[in-house]
Parts: sequence; C-alpha cells; structure tokens
Amino acid sequence: MEPGGLWCETRDMVQQTHAVHGGDFFKAIGEEFEDLGRSASVVSADVLDAWYDPSPNAVGKVAQWLPWLMRTSPPTHGEGLRRVLARTRGLPEEALLLGSGTSSLMYAAFPRLVRADDLVVLLDPMYGEYAHLFENVLGCRVRRHRLPSEEGFRPHPERIAEDCRDAALLVLVNPNSPTGNGMDTEALAELLRRLSPRCRVWVDETYVDFAPDGWSGEPLVPHDPRLIVCKSMSKFYALSGLRIGYLAADPDWIRALEPMSPPWSVGLIAQVAAVEALKDRAYYRAMRDRTAELRADLAASLSTLPGVRKVYPSVTNFLLFRVGEPGAAEVARRCSERGVFLRNCDSLSPRFRDDHLRTAVKDAETNLRILDALAAALA
Ligand SMILES: Cc1ncc(COP(=O)(O)O)c(C=O)c1O
Repeated sequence: MEPGGLWCETRDMVQQTHAVHGGDFFKAIGEEFEDLGRSASVVSADVLDAWYDPSPNAVGKVAQWLPWLMRTSPPTHGEGLRRVLARTRGLPEEALLLGSGTSSLMYAAFPRLVRADDLVVLLDPMYGEYAHLFENVLGCRVRRHRLPSEEGFRPHPERIAEDCRDAALLVLVNPNSPTGNGMDTEALAELLRRLSPRCRVWVDETYVDFAPDGWSGEPLVPHDPRLIVCKSMSKFYALSGLRIGYLAADPDWIRALEPMSPPWSVGLIAQVAAVEALKDRAYYRAMRDRTAELRADLAASLSTLPGVRKVYPSVTNFLLFRVGEPGAAEVARRCSERGVFLRNCDSLSPRFRDDHLRTAVKDAETNLRILDALAAALA
C-alpha cells in the first residue's frame, strides 16, 4: 500500500479522533502537575498501572544519574536494551523492534500489515484501541469474535479459528482486557495450527507477565512467521510513565518495519530503567506472586458486595465485575466523588450495557478504599 495514499484515505475517514481510555484520575491530580502530592489521595483504578514501584535497582540508577540522563541523547535505536531483551527472552535481536510504548508500535505496524478492505478479527470484549484503529483510522472490515460471557469470556482456539477463515489478521489481547483471562502457550499454538496460512496473528501480551509461567507466545515466534507478539513494559515492569514496548516477530517482517521506526523513540531514562528492570527477575517474580494474593482477596471481597452480580476469573492485575442498579456509569461517578476511579466498560464491547466495571488490583490498603467506595455507591 502506498503510504501517501493511506495518509489521505485515513484523514478522510476518521470519525472519532481517539479511542476511549481510562485516566480521568489525572484530572483530580491536575493535568499541569501543580501538586503531584495529590496523587496520594487519588485511587487510579481506571488504568491498569502496577500497584508497586519499579525495581529498586532501576529507581536507584535513574535517581543517581538523573540530570545527566535528562540532557543526554539515548542510543539511537535502543541497541543495548534490544540486546538485553534478546538475551532475556531467548530470541534473536533481529526478531525484535523497540518503540515508545506498544501504542506507537501499533500505529507504525498496522498500516504495513493490512489494507483498507482487509478483514480483521478482534475479540469482543477487548481493549478498545484496536477497534478504533481498524474501524475509524484504517477503515478495515472488522469482525468481532464473541467470547462467551457464560464461560467468563474464556477464549476457545477452535471457535476463534472458525471466525478467521477469510481474515487477513487476527488480533488477540492475551490475557485479555477487560476480562482478565485468556490462553496459555499451548492453546495459542493450537490456535495457530488451526488458522489459515494467510492469516497473521497479533498477540498483545501487555498483561502476560502477571499470568502463571507458560502463557507467552514469544517462544513460538521462531517457529511461525505469521505470529507477531506485542510486548509492553508499562504495566508489569511498572514503567508506564516511561513508554517502552517492543514487537517480537519474524526477522524479515521486523526488517521491513524498521525503516518506519524513528530514531531515539525510547528515551534514555526509559532505556536505562528497562535494562535494570529486566535484570531484576527476583523482584518482579515476588510482585507477581503478591499481585495474585491481592487479586484473590479483592475478588473474594467484591463478590460479597450487595449489587455485585458476578466477578470474573482473572490471571492479571485487574478484575472485571458485573453490577446491577444504579448501573456502571453511576457507580463509577459516585466512586470518583470519593477519589476512587474505576472503568465503566461500555466502550470495550457493544454487549456491555452500563453493567460492567473494571478495577485495577492495588495494594491491600487501597483495595479497601475501592471496596468502601463501591459499597457506598451500590447502596
Ligand atoms: C491491552 C493493552 N495493550 C496496549 C496498551 C498500551 O500500552 P503501552 O503503554 O505499551 O502503550 C494497553 C494500555 O492500557 C493495554 O491495556
């Protein structure tokens, strides 16, 4: 596809400029950052940032060198970080492409991956940026694969493959947001076996490190040129503010995409912090285990609240739950008056009708604040 042609088409087609996201909590803190101390009184459970700090090694190194890091140009294409990622993930460097968060990689990659009339299969429900990008920005034909609500939105490889017969691209978020569950590596491999050789698969693994071992698609990358794994360092590594992501895919495809990757896209503070974080496996493993305990406690307490109809099983740092009266929007509004921000999930599926909320899992004390606010809002 001609890049120039795409640009014109895109501008004519855009109906809605941006996808709907959480993040209203920043209005309470102040978007011009006058007093960041206000963050202590705000519960930002409408976005899925980690409840813990980044590795102390990463924080310590950045703090020690901060002024120098702020005034220095980073390695142009994050060469050292790419090497560390390759070693950590057991993949060749040529199979990796860095970007300023996975969001920027999506916008660089998809115009190269699909044409305007291609059929793209998305999950329903799913993280909203994908539907926005394919429908509103690129003008693709989109089919939504309905995950079964009666089974907690659990994906079935054979049913997904059936919906992809004539598709150019399948996009998965695994584990999925807002549902919190998904497929392990074996189920993903089965899905790949069932798909046509013409169907590429983009697997967004933003939350995979919270799941048990054996869920990532990265080990499958060297064996399947259709597979592109999209990895964010925002959530699990607690580096959302720094904007670091990468793609793992067939080296030929990465080479084709590399010219679209601008220089210095990952800042120097981000590169240094990411390298330290990747080395500190013990710290992040402990955070994963603690998150699982906090999630189980929060899920158990949520399910006892009058007005909460169902709490869905999750392997991530968030929980999806169904509410009755007065409805998800009103519950979210009432909670925000108490400084607790939750996500009304209406924009994440046409099937949600003011009845599903998502909360991030936080530390024990903050989870109690979330529960208190919800109990009052649902009363
Ligand atoms: C499923 C999913 N993919 C991608 C992103 C974007 O992450 P990044 O910070 O890497 O741009 C998010 C952010 O919330 C997300 O939930």
